[in-house]
Order: sequence, then structure tokens, then C-alpha cells
Amino acid sequence: MRRLPLVVAVLGYCWGGSALADASAASADDLRDRETRPCIACHAAISQTFAATRMARSALGQTFRSEWHGQHSPAACLSCHAPSGDAGVVCADCHGVGGHPYPKLQVPQVCARCHDAPGERTVQGFRASPAAALGQDCLDCHLPEGRAASDHAFQGPTVPGFLDRVATIRLLLRHDSATAPVAVVQVTHRAGHALPGGTTGRSVWLIVSGLASDGAPVWSERVRFGWEHPPEQGWQDRTLPPGRPAVLELPQPGRHGAARLHAELWYRFAPGDWSEPDPRARRLDAAELALPQDARALR
Ligand code: HEC
Ligand code: HEC
Ligand code: HEC
Ligand code: HEC
Ligand code: HEC
Repeated sequence: MRRLPLVVAVLGYCWGGSALADASAASADDLRDRETRPCIACHAAISQTFAATRMARSALGQTFRSEWHGQHSPAACLSCHAPSGDAGVVCADCHGVGGHPYPKLQVPQVCARCHDAPGERTVQGFRASPAAALGQDCLDCHLPEGRAASDHAFQGPTVPGFLDRVATIRLLLRHDSATAPVAVVQVTHRAGHALPGGTTGRSVWLIVSGLASDGAPVWSERVRFGWEHPPEQGWQDRTLPPGRPAVLELPQPGRHGAARLHAELWYRFAPGDWSEPDPRARRLDAAELALPQDARALR
């Protein structure tokens, strides 16, 4: 299929203090006891909630395992996927190993260790986002609504419902006197960083079709948003930025007898092209626009 003639116009953490340094909250025996028992003995709810997250199993995921083995299992991958040699991220990877009293964590600094290091830019993107300007942080969006900052659910796009109402498409016509009307597609989203957020193979696809009056598609075009690695070039950031709409223009929307436009936005988990199946793909939004007579006339 032909490429879309669209124009994208947007275009250390540390811990301190010994476990016994502050004996004011509890007796020395009690504190010593805490350090010798697993966290779950006293923090059962937090430990169970966290165990169900992607992070807690980030060295076990099928996609990770096949990519990791494919590269002959470099240890460097585990510095984020399982820094403490476990199935994934563990308590100490964020809270440190100093023991009680633990210092209060700074968000997003503590997340940057893994969500910003080479190849990851989520925290950087967040710092420049309207969400950060409004005083929000990662936990405002990645914990279930209304839950305390100490909740450890860390939900993301893999959690059912998380992607509901994340992005919106608007279709409109722009009338220039010189030319036939041009269709304009606006894509906005409410993630606190780029969409898609990660740098792995995840992508967002915009599919625009022209439909005849009987609803049959007469043309169709698509654009991918995400990180791309074209041959002989470095990684290219073609994600949807936070805060401002991506605006795409589509000349001659009425070609081949199209009477209306249909647009869909999809989130894909599987790397690869649109034609490769992805059973987990989610439709983020859809929109339609009837074309007036002057937009239908072919020029
Ligand atoms: C991905 C980072 C991360 C991991 C991993 C993590 N936590 Fe936390 N934890 C936080 C953040 C952020 C807070 C809120 C800020 C703070 O209190 O320091 C927090 C707060 C807490 C609190 C204080 C709760 C309160 O009400 O004040 C406890 C207790 C806690 N975590 C225990 C654990 C235990 C036990 C584990 C392992 C099962 C764990 N955490 C794993 C990030 C993490
Ligand atoms: C013997 C019970 C017990 C064990 C075991 C335990 N904790 Fe705690 N933890 C507590 C209590 C009680 C508090 C509430 C604060 C206090 O009284 O000092 C607390 C508070 C915390 C806090 C909030 C900051 C602070 O220090 O007050 C964090 C973070 C935390 N625990 C993490 C952990 C981690 C990580 C582990 C496992 C390595 C762990 N805890 C093991 C009982 C325990
Ligand atoms: C205003 C809400 C909001 C804020 C603030 C926010 N996020 Fe997100 N995040 C989202 C939404 C919505 C998605 C799902 C869409 C996507 O992938 O971008 C997401 C996706 C993600 C993903 C998964 C991306 C992938 O493709 O695997 C990660 C990881 C993530 N966020 C981490 C963070 C971290 C770390 C912070 C803080 C620095 C943060 N987010 C701040 C809303 C937010
Ligand atoms: C030690 C490294 C590490 C730290 C620190 C860390 N993360 Fe993660 N995080 C990961 C890895 C690795 C994944 C990918 C898990 C996967 O998809 O297998 C991930 C995934 C996520 C996701 C996506 C979950 C989903 O359902 O797709 C969110 C949201 C997230 N992290 C938020 C945070 C926040 C917020 C912080 C800071 C409080 C943080 N992380 C700190 C390593 C880390
Ligand atoms: C700097 C920290 C860091 C390093 C190093 C790292 N990753 Fe990740 N990885 C992440 C984070 C954070 C996520 C989740 C957010 C995202 O999608 O980018 C992730 C997600 C992934 C995913 C997607 C998981 C899924 O189920 O969708 C794969 C696969 C992956 N990483 C493979 C690797 C491999 C292979 C290496 C080593 C060559 C590696 N990673 C090194 C931080 C890291």
C-alpha cells in the first residue's frame, strides 16, 4: 500500500542511616526482627499487590525472555529487569537496602534509574509534560484511582481498562480558497509522557479510510507512531508528544468517490508491522466525517 501523503505538523538514588539509627519508633529488638524477616511478614498487602505487577515479573515475561536469549542473555539487561537477581524488580530496588527507617522516596527520581537510563525516556518525557506542570507525578496515573501513594499496583497498558479513553481522534475539513478542502486529523492523548510511553516495540497506529456511500472502503492509509530504527540511522522518536495534538493533513479526501472518512487509532504491543497479528492490540478511538459535495469532487 502507498505511504500516507500526510504531513505531521507537530511536531542516584541513595539511602542513608543505619537500621538502628532511629530507635524512637520501635525498640531495637523489634527493628532487628524486621530486618531478618521477609517484608511480606509485616507488609502483606503491599507485597501481594506488588507481586501481581509487571515490574515484579519483568525478567520472566515471554517477550523479554525471547529478546534476551536472542541476544545471548547479556547481564546488562538485568540491571533494570532484575537488578537483585530475582524474577523482576524487588522492594530493595526502590527502597534501598539500608533497612528501617527507610527514607521517603522521591518520585519520579527513583523511577528514573530504570525508566530513563540509555534507551528509556519516560521520565524525561514526563518532566516536560503538562502533567508535571500541574504537579502530578507517575503515581497519580499509575495507581488505581483514589489510592494512596503507598499502594503498589503500578498499573500500565497491560492492565485491562488502563487504555480506555487515553487518546482521541478528531476529523475535520479545512477550506482553503485555492484548493479543494483538505481533511485534517487531530490526535490528542492524556498520558503524562509520549504515547506510546516505552521504547520497546509498542506502537500506536492511525488508520484513515475513505468510504463510498455504500460503506465500502475505496482507499486506506496508515501511520505508525513509536520509536523506529530505519536502516543506517539511529533510533528515531516518532511518538505522539504529550500535551499538544499531533495534526495530520490529508489532501483529496474525496478521491476514488469517497463520501465519508473513517479513522481509527490502535495500540499495539507486538513489535513489527501492522500486518502482523497482535491479539492484545486495543482500539483507542474511532471517528467518522461525512464529506460535503465540494470535498468529493475530484480535482
Ligand atoms: C517501583 C518502586 C517501588 C518498589 C519496587 C516498592 N516500592 Fe514501596 N514505595 C514506593 C513509593 C514510590 C512509595 C511512596 C513514597 C514513600 O513512602 O517513600 C512507597 C511506599 C512504601 C511504604 C510506605 C507506605 C506508607 O503508607 O507510608 C512501604 C511500607 C513500602 N513502600 C513497602 C514496600 C515493600 C514491602 C515492597 C516490596 C514488596 C515495596 N515497597 C516495593 C515505591 C516502591
Ligand atoms: C517485623 C515487621 C516488619 C518487617 C519484617 C518489615 N517491615 Fe517495613 N515497616 C514495619 C512497620 C511497623 C512500619 C511502620 C513504621 C514504623 O513503625 O517504623 C514499617 C515501615 C516501612 C516503610 C516506610 C518507611 C519507614 O521506614 O518507616 C518502608 C519503606 C518499609 N517498611 C519497607 C520494608 C521492606 C522493604 C521490608 C523488607 C526488606 C520491610 N519493610 C520489612 C514493619 C516491618
Ligand atoms: C497523566 C497521566 C500519566 C503520568 C503522570 C504518567 N503516566 Fe505513564 N502512562 C500513562 C498512560 C495513559 C499510559 C498508557 C499509554 C502509553 O503507553 O503511553 C502510560 C504508559 C506508561 C508505561 C508503559 C509504556 C510501555 O509502552 O510499556 C510506563 C513504563 C510508564 N507509563 C511509566 C511512567 C512513569 C515512570 C511516570 C513518571 C515519570 C509516568 N508514567 C507518568 C499515563 C501517565
Ligand atoms: C529497577 C528498575 C525499575 C525501577 C526503579 C522502576 N521500574 Fe517500572 N518497570 C521496570 C521494568 C523492567 C518494567 C517492564 C516490565 C515488563 O513489562 O516486563 C517496568 C514497567 C513499569 C510500568 C508498566 C506496567 C505495565 O502494566 O505495563 C509502570 C507503570 C512502571 N514501571 C512504573 C514505575 C514507577 C512509577 C516507578 C518509580 C516509582 C518505577 N516504575 C520504577 C523497571 C523499573
Ligand atoms: C535502563 C533500564 C533497562 C535496561 C538496561 C533494559 N530494559 Fe528492557 N525495559 C525497561 C523498561 C523500563 C521497560 C518497560 C517500559 C518500556 O516498554 O520501555 C522495558 C521493557 C522491555 C521489554 C518489553 C516487555 C514486554 O513484555 O512487552 C522487553 C522485551 C525488554 N525490555 C527487553 C530488554 C532487553 C533484551 C534488554 C537488554 C538488551 C533490556 N530490555 C534492557 C528497562 C530496561
